Amino acid sequence: MPRYQNRTCQIDEYQTPVGVIPLTWCDFILDIGAMQKTSDIIWQDTQHQVLFSLIDQIKEVPFDPDILVRLKLYAEHHFILEETYMQTLEYPHMEAHIVAHDRFREELAAMLDTDPSMHVALQISLSDFLYKWLKLHVLGIDKKLEDFVMKSSYK
Ligand SMILES: [Fe+2]
Ligand SMILES: [Fe+2]
Repeated sequence: MPRYQNRTCQIDEYQTPVGVIPLTWCDFILDIGAMQKTSDIIWQDTQHQVLFSLIDQIKEVPFDPDILVRLKLYAEHHFILEETYMQTLEYPHMEAHIVAHDRFREELAAMLDTDPSMHVALQISLSDFLYKWLKLHVLGIDKKLEDFVMKSSYK
């Protein structure tokens, strides 16, 4: 059962220079402090925390068969926002960053193509793999983007 199932989930609109995005505060509040801060950009850090929380939920027993779908939707929402910033700011490392996002998209799509009975058997290794990928990404390639955004007039 998802941890937040019995909680009220408030969705706020958050204005960023490239548009209004929804922030789901129930996910954010639940895991606040559980993961180190990943960015000085509020929307970017909040979304990373939600992604880590979703990846953590893959391990939960009983396995929630919808969790990979929710992770895919939320990751897409996050990647599109980062990519919109990159395009708007003409970020010089945009191509490599989008290639990295595409790898994650492909990995998740391949997982979703797999027989769901396999997910139950592999839930720890799926979660660990995605956690490691995301941690490397947010503390590496995303940090470069964060620095660039923070130095721009769009911060
Ligand atoms: Fe990110
Ligand atoms: Fe990214």
